Amino acid sequence: MFRFIPARGGSKSDLHAGLRDAALAITDGERDAVANMANLAALLWQFLPDLNWAGFYRRIGDELVLGPFAGKPACVRIPVGGGVCGRAAAEGTTQIVPDVDAFPGHIACDSRSASEIVVPVFDAAGALIAVFDVDGTTPAAFDEVDQAALEQLLGKVFGA
Ligand code: SME
Repeated sequence: MFRFIPARGGSKSDLHAGLRDAALAITDGERDAVANMANLAALLWQFLPDLNWAGFYRRIGDELVLGPFAGKPACVRIPVGGGVCGRAAAEGTTQIVPDVDAFPGHIACDSRSASEIVVPVFDAAGALIAVFDVDGTTPAAFDEVDQAALEQLLGKVFGA
């Protein structure tokens, strides 16, 4: 299989660069999107710090339906347009939420989540197939560095 040991004491950018290489290695040559979602959720859950949940909601019709994830059991169906995930899907843009309590309509699956980032996932044709949702246990856990890295990683895996 593959081996990934993140450098100790490195920057967040260094961590993301290592995670991108690891993600590309474990998804290389695999075309099944759900299998790739499962491995990416597990990889990022293991190595991004202070996470409470990491996983995918797949777009099926007008809904987002729970897909591969790591963490506690979560809400199964979210309407496109509802919550942070639904807004990311409706707008096709990444949502960074430093304080989930300040986001109108936030869907709380677990009260331990303090902040969140949701990144839309597009296929090679540019269709939105899913969103990737990462929840943090600390306020403002995610920033533009995470956004850029996750958008690039998901684009390479699912959009290529
Ligand atoms: N908080 C999300 C719902 C999904 S859970 O966090 C796993 C939202 O508001 O869309």
